[in-house]
Amino acid sequence: MVQPCTLVIFGASGDLTARKLIPALHQLYLEGQMPARFRIFGFARREKTDASWRAEMQEAVAKFSRTKPMDAARWAAFADNLYYQCGDLGDPAAYQSLATRLRSADDPDLRDNLVFYMATSPSQFGGIADNLHAAGVLRRKEDADTAWQRVVVEKPFGHDGASARTLNNQITQHVRERQVFRIDHYLGKETVQNIMMFRFSNSIFERLWNRESVDHVQITVSEEIGVGGRGGYYEEAGALRDMVQNHLLQILSLVAMEPPVSLQAESIRNEKVKLLQSIRPLSAEDVRRQAVRGQYFAGALNGENRLGYRQEEKVGPSSNVETFVALKLFIDNWRWSGVPFYLRTGKNLPLRASEVRVQFRPTPNVLFAARTADPLQPNALTLRLQPDEGISLFFNGKVPGNSAQLRPVRMHFDYDAEFGAYTPEAYERLLLEAMAGDATLFIRRDEVEAAWQIVDSIRAGWSGTPLSNREFYAAGTWGPVAAEDLLAQAGHQWHNP
Ligand SMILES: NC(=O)c1ccc[n+]([C@@H]2O[C@H](COP(=O)([O-])OP(=O)(O)OC[C@H]3O[C@@H](n4cnc5c(N)ncnc54)[C@H](OP(=O)(O)O)[C@@H]3O)[C@@H](O)[C@H]2O)c1
Repeated sequence: MVQPCTLVIFGASGDLTARKLIPALHQLYLEGQMPARFRIFGFARREKTDASWRAEMQEAVAKFSRTKPMDAARWAAFADNLYYQCGDLGDPAAYQSLATRLRSADDPDLRDNLVFYMATSPSQFGGIADNLHAAGVLRRKEDADTAWQRVVVEKPFGHDGASARTLNNQITQHVRERQVFRIDHYLGKETVQNIMMFRFSNSIFERLWNRESVDHVQITVSEEIGVGGRGGYYEEAGALRDMVQNHLLQILSLVAMEPPVSLQAESIRNEKVKLLQSIRPLSAEDVRRQAVRGQYFAGALNGENRLGYRQEEKVGPSSNVETFVALKLFIDNWRWSGVPFYLRTGKNLPLRASEVRVQFRPTPNVLFAARTADPLQPNALTLRLQPDEGISLFFNGKVPGNSAQLRPVRMHFDYDAEFGAYTPEAYERLLLEAMAGDATLFIRRDEVEAAWQIVDSIRAGWSGTPLSNREFYAAGTWGPVAAEDLLAQAGHQWHNP
């Protein structure tokens, strides 16, 4: 049960609030998962009243909610708990006004149990924490305290290791680490959570999950969209910061970590951080050999012409920012020694998909070598995280007939077919867990910093070197030739979702 509380959303007039946060909270309400009593305050600069914000949020829910049509009476009951506070994030008086309204509740739970959700520009996160503390509504929780305050911080968390540490220090001046909930919405996805469940509840796979049996692992997160109107943001970020630092390294840590001693948040996060810390650091020379960048040029996708990255709005005409990354990483621990982990992500790729492929070692090529022209396909297991969530096992089957021909076949488990099409939005789960105080699906300070350390070393290796010809790819293809080269060195090849 989630204790009654008040949620304050900074950035209440923004895209994330309208598209994800309020629809998710409304959905939780419909499902009876919101606390028995709650208030939601929206904070932003634009002039609005409680009534006008409620009306805007009603439109947003009608548009973005996963349950349609909207029930007007239930919306009205939910919307009675929404309030809007107009103010500038840099203005201490605005926080005083907010604090006055927060304290106006007679119910001590609604007054003192507070979740502050930072859905603004990342440069504002630290200042919000300072101002909330100064206004007396954000306090370090002592063990004897029954009331609690938490801060939920959107991504990106920092721009590099140094800025992430600074932000961590700034926020934890006012609260304990366990009051900080750093979002990576990938962790809220049902199938990402399932990676761990799948690994540790099925003995047949877990005993193969190591260097003895696994040849290599591929993690692909492909996006069909280009940078669109987000060119300005992307010029500062690039695919490495935007996708690898968080989503791909998070998936990698769940795929490769050791079994946690319990399902407690800290046990799981201890294992994830250990895994990140076991990734072999990359020297400048390693970066040259193991980290590939790419950038799309004009092409076509699904019959639609796509601009090249350098022609996108707010992108420099000679920009070297990467829209694609492929990495070969090694995990220097007992389980994974010598097994390559290939990670790739990119924009304007042929389809949107997230997939983990565990490729097992091949059988000795002796028995069938004389009968089949090509070597046998090794066994593989793919965990499809989105869309069409499911798990497939690939093995070889005999082609019917008199010959001894073999061909790869697939055994497939489909989530929707098995459980029905119930796919809660990641933000529903994350908001619920933040209100409940369970940090399992949020990223701990040391995890963020370990992930930045990997990313920073790659950035340092790339800095000052322009993209080479082999690092450009046409929009609508699976990335640059350099990414193929990366796997070919070891006789591997990418398996496209
Ligand atoms: N949108 C997404 O799908 C998405 C996905 C993942 C992560 N995120 C992260 O979520 C955060 C928000 O993204 P967004 O897309 O919602 O951004 P956005 O649409 O640009 O919204 C920014 C919000 O911040 C408020 N704001 C900015 N400066 C302010 C100030 N000085 N005082 C008070 N309010 C101020 C804006 O309110 P006013 O304009 O009214 O001042 C607006 O409500 C970012 O950290 C982003 O990286 C977003």
